[in-house]
Amino acid sequence: MYNIHAMKEYTYTSSAAAKVILCGEHAVVYGYPAIAVPVSGVRVHATLICTSSPILRVRLPDLGEEWDWPPGPSGHPLALLIGETLTYLGLPHLGGRLTLRSDIPVGGGMGSSAAVAVAVVRVLAQAAGHPLPPEDVSALAYKAEVLWHGTPSGIDNTVIAHERPVWFIKGQPPHPFTPARGFTLVIGDSGISASTRDVVLAVRRQWEQDQERYNRIFQEIGRVVHAVRAALEAGDIEQVGPLLDENQRLLEEMGVSHPVLESLINAARRAGAWGAKLAGAGWGGNVIALVPPERATSVEDALRAAGATRTFITRVQGASDHESREYP
Ligand code: MEV
Repeated sequence: MYNIHAMKEYTYTSSAAAKVILCGEHAVVYGYPAIAVPVSGVRVHATLICTSSPILRVRLPDLGEEWDWPPGPSGHPLALLIGETLTYLGLPHLGGRLTLRSDIPVGGGMGSSAAVAVAVVRVLAQAAGHPLPPEDVSALAYKAEVLWHGTPSGIDNTVIAHERPVWFIKGQPPHPFTPARGFTLVIGDSGISASTRDVVLAVRRQWEQDQERYNRIFQEIGRVVHAVRAALEAGDIEQVGPLLDENQRLLEEMGVSHPVLESLINAARRAGAWGAKLAGAGWGGNVIALVPPERATSVEDALRAAGATRTFITRVQGASDHESREYP
């Protein structure tokens, strides 16, 4: 059944998207919902060349990493993932070269590690002639995420494996859903790196000191996230803009914003965005702007002029979209 034969080379390719949190960050840690969406224009690409070699050479040129599997570097999440995936696929052996190239900024809250894991599972499944459903891809990728991040929520591997928006509540199975209409986001990187762990901890300290105030902020964010989902499912995309602005105001009140993020957000709004907010933990990282598609490049230019170090335009697909899966 397998497509892999000695003496010949076979090439397989796969890719996986980045993601951003559309709304609900931080409150999600306290049991409220969050929505994450795929960023389909920014991807990890995997190329697997199968040969009769007994060894698989794994290359991650963006990280300057190169190693042989088996066994791979001790405890390396990808080495474990390759073994687990081959076992799951019933592939007894795999030799050749696996190259992973990524357009996703590392450590920017765009799910780069989960995307690498999803691309690896997909390309191995292709080599086995056994494409896997998104649920299985997500479950395998989660095993690598646990080794990378300790106790990840699972939102990244889910949104990336399904490449659809995901409704997520901590402790419950993530729920992929489809907006009635597609929408366009512009993402701007502030160039400031902040540790998610530090920001989450700072919020925890503040919450401990004033639970009443912080619980109220989280509740209001929860209400905004429910309203965003309802608007997306109804296809009222413009209505989502002011909800994102409200989410940003609540994040500012929480103390996780930053003057540089706010100047990017204001630039996006002035250039015609329907709404804009920080995305992820805050104190740095990315902002996202929901834009009318025809304003996307003006908003992108405005973000660059306001100091964004990198920008991306992405289209999230909706049920009634008959758009091709070619992304800007
Ligand atoms: C970080 O991308 C999102 C946070 O809500 C943290 C988390 O959900 O683990 C800030």
